[in-house]
Amino acid sequence: MRIFYFSGTGNAKKAAEWIQESMKEKGISAEKYNLASKLSMLEIKLADCDLIGFCYPTHGFNAPPIVLRFLWQLPKTNNKTKVFLLNTRAGMKISKLFTPGINGFALILPALILRLKGYRIVGYRPLDMPSNWISIHPGLRQKVINSIVNRCQRITKKFAEKLMAGKKVHRGLNDLPIDLLISPLALGYYFYGRFILSKTFIATDACNQCRICEKECPVDAISLKNGMPYWAYNCESCMHCMNTCPQRAIETPHAYTTLIWWLAFSLVPVFIFKYVLKASTFTYLKHESIYIILQYVLGGLIVFGAYKVLHTLMHFNAINKLIAYTSLTKYKFWRRYKGPVVK
Ligand SMILES: Cc1cc2nc3c(=O)[nH]c(=O)nc-3n(C[C@H](O)[C@H](O)[C@H](O)COP(=O)(O)O)c2cc1C
Ligand code: SF4
Ligand code: SF4
Repeated sequence: MRIFYFSGTGNAKKAAEWIQESMKEKGISAEKYNLASKLSMLEIKLADCDLIGFCYPTHGFNAPPIVLRFLWQLPKTNNKTKVFLLNTRAGMKISKLFTPGINGFALILPALILRLKGYRIVGYRPLDMPSNWISIHPGLRQKVINSIVNRCQRITKKFAEKLMAGKKVHRGLNDLPIDLLISPLALGYYFYGRFILSKTFIATDACNQCRICEKECPVDAISLKNGMPYWAYNCESCMHCMNTCPQRAIETPHAYTTLIWWLAFSLVPVFIFKYVLKASTFTYLKHESIYIILQYVLGGLIVFGAYKVLHTLMHFNAINKLIAYTSLTKYKFWRRYKGPVVK
């Protein structure tokens, strides 16, 4: 058996390890591979596999692009090799109630790709590990994380046992109606949102240029520019850098981002629509769909341009401090996500 995993903050990696342990306990040889280590298809021998597994987080109601790219590259098979999919989602705990995340396309799309390539899906399951999305909510408390992780460990072991017993697990199908309903958001995130979100990371003057974030980014999205980390558009917002920076120097500049997004997606487009397009003699420019397209193209350009400006301005001490202290992530109560693997 072979398990391929991608993991920003350790949840999917831990799930892959639990499955591997369960298999090994039963004497089944199981190897796992990290998709972030830039695997070459030539090195991966799938022909001798009885079962192939994929574990990965859910990003913006979809599987991360790095996972989808890997699945596209997999060789076709005509022997119906068995595969399982396990996506970790944003689990939370409110009082004693464990609340689930939402798949969107995170299972459907990988399953479709694999079916097209001739693989047979025997496992199709979401796993509600602790949410790591600390750009939008504070990191969970360790007690809550441990409780969610313990529950997930039991679920994953059962999942592995069923697969070993030759049973099919299609638990993810229960969520199909919600997943389909949410699909427009999944598309919006994949084709637009993720690029905008890549511009919501900044390093403050706590950064000592150790370059750990640059080395460890799974998609090489960080580079030091003028002595300061710069986030490129291909960042997948996996949260690895932000949660593991030894200096806790990486922040989401909340106040600045709110201001720029308001400018980019509200103020400027309204101005253009009201004063420029209405005054224009070209009637097709007044069409609603033109307005929407313009709004997003222009909004994106403003966000990207403003990020470049911000990166330069961060070299000024006063601005660096202002941005840092208007970032919610700066404050202790917001916490970082210390997952089951991340130390
Ligand atoms: C940018 C981003 C987008 C996310 N989108 C979703 C989502 O659409 N649905 C969901 O259930 N969880 C979502 N999450 C939560 C993660 O999928 C979840 O915490 C996962 O267990 C993280 O796994 P990892 O530690 O292996 O990276 C998102 C997290 C991030 C950082
Ligand atoms: S890991 Fe943190 S301290 Fe090191 S270069 Fe990146 S932001 Fe700076
Ligand atoms: S830049 Fe950070 S959040 Fe983005 S993909 Fe790299 S490690 Fe993940």
